[in-house]
Amino acid sequence: MTLPQTPGPIGVFDSGYGGLTILRQIRALLPRYDYLYLGDNARAPYGPRSFPLVLEFTTQAVHRLFEMGCQLVILACNTASAKALRTIQQQCLPGWDPNRRVLGVIRPTAECVGELSATRHVGVFATEGTIASQTYNLEIAKLHPDIRVTGLACPMWVPLVENGEAEGDGADYFVRERIERIMALDPEIDTIILGCTHYPLLLNKIRLYAPSHVRIIPQGDYVASSLRDYLSRHGEMDLRLTKRASCRYFTTEAPERFDASASLFMASPVESERIDLS
Ligand code: DGL
Repeated sequence: MTLPQTPGPIGVFDSGYGGLTILRQIRALLPRYDYLYLGDNARAPYGPRSFPLVLEFTTQAVHRLFEMGCQLVILACNTASAKALRTIQQQCLPGWDPNRRVLGVIRPTAECVGELSATRHVGVFATEGTIASQTYNLEIAKLHPDIRVTGLACPMWVPLVENGEAEGDGADYFVRERIERIMALDPEIDTIILGCTHYPLLLNKIRLYAPSHVRIIPQGDYVASSLRDYLSRHGEMDLRLTKRASCRYFTTEAPERFDASASLFMASPVESERIDLS
């Protein structure tokens, strides 16, 4: 199927609700653009899934967003950025449409830590898949070789968010335990990156249990400013993007369920449509 060549929206993709933390910041900074959000809630979490499966699911989602007219897609998911971004950029885009772009969230986040850590000891909380890929360690080592990175997977955190338990009492144990664990692994950590877009939904509890001198870094602001810079440097892409300030939401799960959680989080009513990716 040939992809539409007319200007279109920016696609924002995540395995589920997490990418909303990125979408919110992007829309706050770049409100004029049109957006399509796609959450693969039916197949979340991606964190424990194998490399080939995350690649397959992410490739399906990006292609669908392109079919729906998106010219640029943000993988608002660290697991997908770690496991699928390079392959999609290098192997899929040239055949699909070399003028379209897919951008991830890890590089803009790795760039920011150089200015944030005084001790040069940085922690990264992320999914099992992102931690196993070592992508944060590699990206930070390239940009800031003096920083020591300690990564720790938090396998319970995404299921807590996807099941609407982020503010519930049950989340406290799992949040406190991971924070104590990472600080025991490296007591000199002064900055912790939330390297999974679901984790800012647990921010209240993370801030409650983190030592007061440790700075917690959600990614949204950095990804949004990086996108703004990208668009100012790539006028040809900016011309391919429509600007009517709209936002549509798609989910692979039941829309009523998505709408209830997403409306709370976006602080405005969300009406999603169901989409089948497989
Ligand atoms: N929110 C995604 C991330 O940033 C994926 C979480 C998951 O599905 O496990 O990694």
